[in-house]
Amino acid sequence: MRTIIGITGASGSNFAVNLIEKCPSEKYLVASKWGKRVMHEELGLKFEELRSMVDNTFSDSDLASPFASGSNYFDSLVIIPCSISTLNKIASGISDSLITRMAQVALKERRRLIIALRETPLDSITLENALKLSKAGAIIAPISPGVYMGESSIKDMENTFSEKILSLIGVHPDKGWRTEKIKDE
Ligand SMILES: Cc1cc2nc3c(=O)[nH]c(=O)nc-3n(C[C@H](O)[C@H](O)[C@H](O)COP(=O)(O)O)c2cc1C
Repeated sequence: MRTIIGITGASGSNFAVNLIEKCPSEKYLVASKWGKRVMHEELGLKFEELRSMVDNTFSDSDLASPFASGSNYFDSLVIIPCSISTLNKIASGISDSLITRMAQVALKERRRLIIALRETPLDSITLENALKLSKAGAIIAPISPGVYMGESSIKDMENTFSEKILSLIGVHPDKGWRTEKIKDE
């Protein structure tokens, strides 16, 4: 299984780092200019420091890189965190960066596209575009970790959210919830 993780300039880069740590598949990483900047501001982490955790990284400005072409297969693209700017660009068919181009490829080739949006509140334009993308096949998975699994720290919330994303791309971690048989009350 081949997964691409795209980091854009929304808050919540810690969720991307957690996903990179947890994702067991072959994995590739791309970050936008603002994705790198916000990650550095939030985590003090440089993009280069993530290189050893993935199979390869690509520049967001490199539209000649392999995954800009539909001929080079990947199973899933997870944009996490996804800014409203990137979501709205994808919905408008703009593909002037590697992340937006790979999203377009995922939609046209009917591959899995997970958009982990991070913004609140949401304006009507973004809501309409999120619906448009959902109808086109994308999965809109806003970063909104639950607390129903006993999460008591940010790390717990990152873990739960990563498990959610992993199940969406077809990786089913052992630790599910309600794995016991459901009985009548
Ligand atoms: C510290 C910081 C935090 C930001 N947080 C968000 C956010 O949570 N959601 C969002 O949509 N944009 C956020 N932005 C704005 C985006 O970075 C900006 O719209 C940028 O153009 C997004 O570009 P990209 O989608 O190509 O990464 C933030 C910017 C900064 C500097």
